[in-house]
Amino acid sequence: MQDMLWWKRGTVYQIYPRSFQDSNDDGIGDLAGIRERLPYLTWLGVDAIWISPFYPSPMADFGYDVADYCGVDPMFGSLSDFDALLADAHEAGLKVILDFVPNHTSDRHPWFAESRSDRASPKRDWYIWKDPAPGGGPPNNWISNFGGSAWQFDEITGQYYYHAFLKEQPDLNWRNPDVRAAMMDVLRFWLERGVDGFRVDVIWHLIKDAGFRDNPVNPGWSENDPEIGRLVQAYSADQPEVHEIIAEMRAVLEEYDERVLIGEIYLPLERLVAYYGEDLSGAHLPFNFQLLETAWHARQIDGMIREYEAALPQGGWPNWVLGNHDRQRIAGRVGTEQARVAAMLLLTLRGTATLYYGDEIGMQNVPIPPDRVQDPWEKNEPGLGFNRDAYRTPMQWDASEGAGFTTAEPWLPIDMREPERNVADERQDEGSMLCLYRRLLDLRRTRPALAVGAYRPVEAEGDVLAYCREEGTERLLVALNLGAEPAALSLPPEARGGRIVLSVLGNREAESVGEVLSLQGNEAVLLEFSA
Ligand code: GLC
Repeated sequence: MQDMLWWKRGTVYQIYPRSFQDSNDDGIGDLAGIRERLPYLTWLGVDAIWISPFYPSPMADFGYDVADYCGVDPMFGSLSDFDALLADAHEAGLKVILDFVPNHTSDRHPWFAESRSDRASPKRDWYIWKDPAPGGGPPNNWISNFGGSAWQFDEITGQYYYHAFLKEQPDLNWRNPDVRAAMMDVLRFWLERGVDGFRVDVIWHLIKDAGFRDNPVNPGWSENDPEIGRLVQAYSADQPEVHEIIAEMRAVLEEYDERVLIGEIYLPLERLVAYYGEDLSGAHLPFNFQLLETAWHARQIDGMIREYEAALPQGGWPNWVLGNHDRQRIAGRVGTEQARVAAMLLLTLRGTATLYYGDEIGMQNVPIPPDRVQDPWEKNEPGLGFNRDAYRTPMQWDASEGAGFTTAEPWLPIDMREPERNVADERQDEGSMLCLYRRLLDLRRTRPALAVGAYRPVEAEGDVLAYCREEGTERLLVALNLGAEPAALSLPPEARGGRIVLSVLGNREAESVGEVLSLQGNEAVLLEFSA
């Protein structure tokens, strides 16, 4: 039964609230808009929504700069709009996961206003304040993730404060027990309202080296890379003490039933899996971004899946992410044809899948004219190709001018390049990406082997990636062609004579296969055979 917890068998759908549905015609999505679209999500067949931040915020980093952890920004609605959304989602059988942003607040958060006002302020030590270096200048060499020094000099008290992201996002001091207590209360505030879990923003950043040592230079960095890569983040993140904090958050969730703790962690595999915590006392799901990071080649992806499976701690539940608001759209990165293969991959791998809004209709990276750039990272480090606006554009609901998203001028341009790429049109077309996603999600719900079954790699060559999923007497084989040329897989003996359940190119249902499974270019197939 433990194995059947909702967050293990379910699929998470990430909503970027600014871009999902505008209900009040200001060109920006909102909570009431999400509520209107719940029937779509249940039709699609996802199990949970994770909503990126909607708290009061000056929006320097579009909500990841929180000025009040326990409220709703008027732009997105009110607390009662949130309660109504939560109630309707639960009514519809959908879980609701919030984005918790504990590493930093907005510089407009009252805590920071108090902290910066006076060195003797009781909130002084809630943030990270340091004297200038002995010869003047910032206390150490740490770099902001958005470029430039991570230290900002504050005239009021003559000290620097640390910000891992924008200077408008001062880092909290998680070594201070009062900060910890206040933030645990934030979790309780939302848990009491009934939320089902949290995705914790940059969780591996929470604790910094106690001595604030300089980070070493990264010899692999080149000038076309973001500046943050110039140094190895040896002392500014992923410190051993972070695991105590995560265990503390986890313990708060354990006061309630079946809530989930997800951690945002960009680290190599061997360091990532440490975030399950000792005796699984850490995050239930340390986000696995390997599908975003690994080159799109069958042999590399195959090796990565095996490595990940092998690295998981005993009892640690795997998870996979195919897109998010910080990374290129999958259809942009691998192309529209391969995006169908990617859909099959995401939804047939062992572990919880996280799907980014719009990927189910094949949304692309959208070119943003220079005068419409919003992303602060792009503004700080222009031209490196990291404009996150391109992956945050409004959801394309229909072919009308505002795409069914808004009747006003949208906050980011709507992609008009492929007018038929929208929910309304794709719902009518059985061969669409949307119908493929829906079918895959349906299979995941009805086939225990896909939802919770074991994973067993299958030997394959060239562009073909293959594995089995097995539960009870149910046996499934997944074969994916990551190339554009036809390919073949010589089936393992037990799978011979199996029947095709689904091909991402359609039209092969119930076909029975002998010894060799042939695949068209960009084809992926799910095959069923008997134990
Ligand atoms: C996370 C968010 C990203 C944000 C950053 C700072 O990486 O996903 O969007 O800019 O944290 O909060």
